[in-house]
Amino acid sequence: MDDKIRVLLSEEEVNRRISEVAGMINRDYAGKQVHLICILKGGVFFTCELAKRLDLDVSLDFMSVSSYGAGTTSSGVVRIIKDLDEPLEGKDVIIVEDIIDSGRTLAYLMEVLRQRGPKSIELCTLLDKPERRVKKQVQVKYTCFTIPDEFVVGYGLDYDQKYRNLPFIGVVEQ
Ligand code: IMP
Ligand code: MG
Repeated sequence: MDDKIRVLLSEEEVNRRISEVAGMINRDYAGKQVHLICILKGGVFFTCELAKRLDLDVSLDFMSVSSYGAGTTSSGVVRIIKDLDEPLEGKDVIIVEDIIDSGRTLAYLMEVLRQRGPKSIELCTLLDKPERRVKKQVQVKYTCFTIPDEFVVGYGLDYDQKYRNLPFIGVVEQ
């Protein structure tokens, strides 16, 4: 641990808010089956915590995309590294992301996944940095926290692949 990390959102705050958002999804999808798509790797911690709190029939699939190189700047290029295992036809899909920043990743993904014929498709994100949005068309149905324009780590989010395992969300102090 070479970098200094300031706590932005504690583990308790994060978990409390995930429970609230899970409650909204439980109400909105009552009686339905939801198909959660976890966006690897960052979305994995959030997906697990969210899924555990859903009182619905849940199926899971995983997708890995790359929009950033090493470091903290966007390349603007989105690439599918690992595609879904299951088709989406007729499913009520929720995409689960760690953070929406420029929105490039999600704008691209929503376009690709909509073409696969889901019954519905919504977005659920742990964090949103709206100040940084380039793709204004990205509509987020469920947001746990809106945060300022700072680079954050923990709870799945990394800085050069480090710090994903921190149980809280922190800011790397430069
Ligand atoms: P977007 O395409 O610019 O919205 O970028 C989304 C992806 O960039 C996220 O899924 C993260 O992997 C990464 N990212 C954006 N901001 C941060 C941050 O503050 N910390 C860690 N990763 C970030
Ligand atoms: Mg990500």
